[in-house]
Amino acid sequence: MKNPGLMIDESHDEGARMRFVAGIRGYIGGTMMPGARAIADEHLTPAFRKKTGHNPDRRDLRKLAEGTALYPWTSALRRTQQEMMWDTSGDTLKRQWPTATPTNRGSATLRLDPMMQTPRYLTAVDIHCMPGNYHSELTDNDAFAGALYDHVIVSNGYKGDDAAGVGGALAAFVKRNFPDLRVRRVLDVGCTVGHSTLAYTHAFPNAEIQAIDVAAPCLRYAKARADAANAAVHFSQQNAEGTDFKAGSFDLIVSTITLHETSNKAIRNIYRECRRLLRPGGVMVHCESQQYFAKAPFDAQWHRWGAHFNAEPFMETMHEMELKSLAVECGFDATKSFPQVPMLSTLAPDMAVADPGRAPKTYPEILYVAGAVR
Ligand SMILES: C[S@@+](CC[C@H](N)C(=O)[O-])C[C@H]1O[C@@H](n2cnc3c(N)ncnc32)[C@H](O)[C@@H]1O
Repeated sequence: MKNPGLMIDESHDEGARMRFVAGIRGYIGGTMMPGARAIADEHLTPAFRKKTGHNPDRRDLRKLAEGTALYPWTSALRRTQQEMMWDTSGDTLKRQWPTATPTNRGSATLRLDPMMQTPRYLTAVDIHCMPGNYHSELTDNDAFAGALYDHVIVSNGYKGDDAAGVGGALAAFVKRNFPDLRVRRVLDVGCTVGHSTLAYTHAFPNAEIQAIDVAAPCLRYAKARADAANAAVHFSQQNAEGTDFKAGSFDLIVSTITLHETSNKAIRNIYRECRRLLRPGGVMVHCESQQYFAKAPFDAQWHRWGAHFNAEPFMETMHEMELKSLAVECGFDATKSFPQVPMLSTLAPDMAVADPGRAPKTYPEILYVAGAVR
């Protein structure tokens, strides 16, 4: 399935600019980061071990790396590239806005809440440097933030051709690990423009798919995009910390890369709300990247870079949490909660970790899930 989003007319110069910006990211990932990693492995770590008698953790490595010449340059270029990426897509879109909006005719539905208070964890910063974040509106009935997010994700190929790769992998995880689950009603939490949501319409064709987000511009765009894909998703503007859905009304509740953009308090509220909304035997699955305790120190310190320099303030704290304990704290049964596992893994019957040695290869494979059965 191709991305059903907006059809954008990209000029030669705009295309060249986007490829240039993407090329910088390739250069950072392919040349600068391996250089920084080699410095850490071959110089910083052995010197630290010699001095202290133990290996550096991610905090030690960050301090040491910041004292080298390459790391600050890598960090500065990465931040600059991120800002350029939004600006480049934004300029291309603004030139054609609003004629590039996808049409709004189809079986998807949209329920907005004019009284919605966007939580402070989403208004305090422009998450991952996205200007205005997910929720800002420039005009009435505005869908620009959704279009911008879609364009950046799709034109950079972050989630596969149709941007549904992460949702597809999560659905495959559910089918593989919970083959007896009857999926009649699904809730996607923090759906943004419905990239992952559309995957659930394919994976569970007979199920009712509900998708919520706090950001109206993203939801307007999500509805139009789902219409273009002929997908009957029911979008509503709701805070996942407390929704208006009936208790016990969902078989499956999912989120993809949403939790790290919330807060310490909100993540607990969201887990509790998921528990309220699941019917007995229903399943909750949250997808994020790998927690720090399982990551190599160099990878963990580079990942946490995003918390400090890419405006994702909760990301570091979230990646230090033990997600199975969080589920238990929020009311799930310990024997029915599973810790973080590779998204394509098979859970052992006791829900302990499975496939621990599986080497991540593609984007969905470097993502992990945690969750519980109600
Ligand atoms: C990184 S995006 C998620 C991407 C999306 N799940 C996908 O797979 O394409 C995070 C989204 O979560 C939403 N969000 C954050 N906190 C929320 C909350 N408490 N309730 C509902 N949506 C929330 C944000 O507005 C944003 O659209």
